[in-house]
Amino acid sequence: MIPLTITEQEFQQLAAYIHRNYGIHLKAEKKALLVGRLQQQLHAHQLHNYSEYYEYLLADRSGQAATELINSISTNHTFFMREANHFHFLRDVVLPTLVKQLNDRDLRIWCAGCSTGEEPYTIAMIIDEFFGSHKLGWDTSLLATDISTKALHKAITGSYPAEWVAPLPAVWKTKYFNESSDGSFSLTDKIKKEIIFRKFNLMEPVYPFKRRFHAIFCRNVMIYFDGPTKDAIIRKFYDATEPGGYLFIGHSEALDRNQYGYKYVMPSVYRKE
Ligand SMILES: C[S@@+](CC[C@H](N)C(=O)[O-])C[C@H]1O[C@@H](n2cnc3c(N)ncnc32)[C@H](O)[C@@H]1O
Repeated sequence: MIPLTITEQEFQQLAAYIHRNYGIHLKAEKKALLVGRLQQQLHAHQLHNYSEYYEYLLADRSGQAATELINSISTNHTFFMREANHFHFLRDVVLPTLVKQLNDRDLRIWCAGCSTGEEPYTIAMIIDEFFGSHKLGWDTSLLATDISTKALHKAITGSYPAEWVAPLPAVWKTKYFNESSDGSFSLTDKIKKEIIFRKFNLMEPVYPFKRRFHAIFCRNVMIYFDGPTKDAIIRKFYDATEPGGYLFIGHSEALDRNQYGYKYVMPSVYRKE
């Protein structure tokens, strides 16, 4: 019988592992959540307690156990048009500004912590609508990354229940989606091929991108990290941002205005001078 409880020591061990590898900071009150989410893993691998689970996790060289762990514990809540004023700002300020500046017509955007895809697809639709028939000659690349392969799989599938696309403008639903017989909506291939989805851990010590980005969206991801982790990630974002490029974070988040090279533009939007 799998215990529904975890000892304090087992919790500390696992929480330290998760923090070290994924940056996610689990407070003591998250014990029940952790137990609830990992029950299935213990059951599947016939492990009797969380100490055995921890040994299994450390011994697994395939990466499968770690993948299952992060897939179980990451919070992937997201939705189309979330924090919509960011997308309006992208359409009304960021894109018009960049279009004037980018003589090489090469626009690069990174959506870091993209979860199940609603955020990068929203960005892709904003970009498509902005450029319209003037897209020709522009190379717009949109990289969308997450640590959860489960979330990425859903993102790549690009199919959502009707209620989830309900907040989108009616014209977008006809232009950018195909409605299936089961009532779900799938993004068109035209929009799908605008996005490159990749697994990427923001805890990587060095971000391996050859070219910097004109905008980075990392919204509602760093809320799970503690101060030093967030600080190290923002410094890497800064290095990965083109001068004049933007950083978007979640509405409930903020950067210390004097700690980084980013300049405050408006709540949760920053710009590298
Ligand atoms: C709450 S969702 C936010 C989704 C979207 N950005 C939004 O604002 O709607 C947080 C996402 O961050 C991802 N995440 C957590 N830790 C991560 C890490 N170390 N590296 C990359 N992604 C991570 C999770 O897998 C999850 O999909």
